Amino acid sequence: LASSIAQVRTWLHSAQRIAMLTGAGVSAESGVPTFRDAQSGLWAHFRPEELATEDAFRDHPERVWDWYAGRREALKAVRPNAGHVAVAEFQARHPDRLTVITQNVDGLHQAAGSPGVLALHGNLFDDAWLDSCALARRPADACPVTLAVPGRPPHCAQCGNLVRPAVVWFGENLPAEALAAAEAAAEACDVMLVVGTSGEVWPAAGLAVTARRAGAKVVVVNPDATALDAEAHALLRGPSASVLPQLLDF
Ligand code: APR
Repeated sequence: LASSIAQVRTWLHSAQRIAMLTGAGVSAESGVPTFRDAQSGLWAHFRPEELATEDAFRDHPERVWDWYAGRREALKAVRPNAGHVAVAEFQARHPDRLTVITQNVDGLHQAAGSPGVLALHGNLFDDAWLDSCALARRPADACPVTLAVPGRPPHCAQCGNLVRPAVVWFGENLPAEALAAAEAAAEACDVMLVVGTSGEVWPAAGLAVTARRAGAKVVVVNPDATALDAEAHALLRGPSASVLPQLLDF
């Protein structure tokens, strides 16, 4: 591992532009459960289809709302780890040289101080209306926030519209602006660090393929094998909270 870290450091030293794609693993050492880790993963107890879809929310609003409320509550006690901090400190020393693209909705890169994080799957702490307002003058209008009545989930006192977590559910489009910026960063980078993701969910995982095709060095940081290992020029088999500080300490 040490020799490959040294190799990757030389690539990073000469990289003008670095892109970093992160997944749940970068938050694992903060105590946030990952999704697909058989033992502790969130999905170990639920199947994604049961909770993280619009149909699941429409069919069982309380169950889905309670699951997200529980994750929000658990995240209040969670802090960025040494990996998040190493990234933010590198960005402070080298402005505009490293772009963070994350699949995570835990806000930990932002909490560590990373600027301009491209949050492809939204943010767990933001809310949105499920539908447009039934009583609005124009179809696209949402309900006035003042009419949100607390509940599991909160709803509009006027028309019954439900409040939902502003995260991307399976089958939904990713925020177009963030995805376009992520694609551009993957195209332009000299090195793409793929950290803490199983690489099983697209289009996020496809950013590593985009980077490789555009001529970037692709580096996977993960204690286990991932679906993106075939794209990698280097595999750093270690936990991100110890590997990232070694990679980004210049
Ligand atoms: N350091 C680095 N990687 C780690 C660590 C660690 N300390 N601990 C675990 N990992 C790795 C696991 O080996 C696994 O490859 O983190 C990865 C987590 O993978 P997933 O649980 O699949 O999470 P992720 O890849 O982010 O899932 C992508 O799927 O469920 C949807 O929208 C959800 O954003 C999520 C997306």
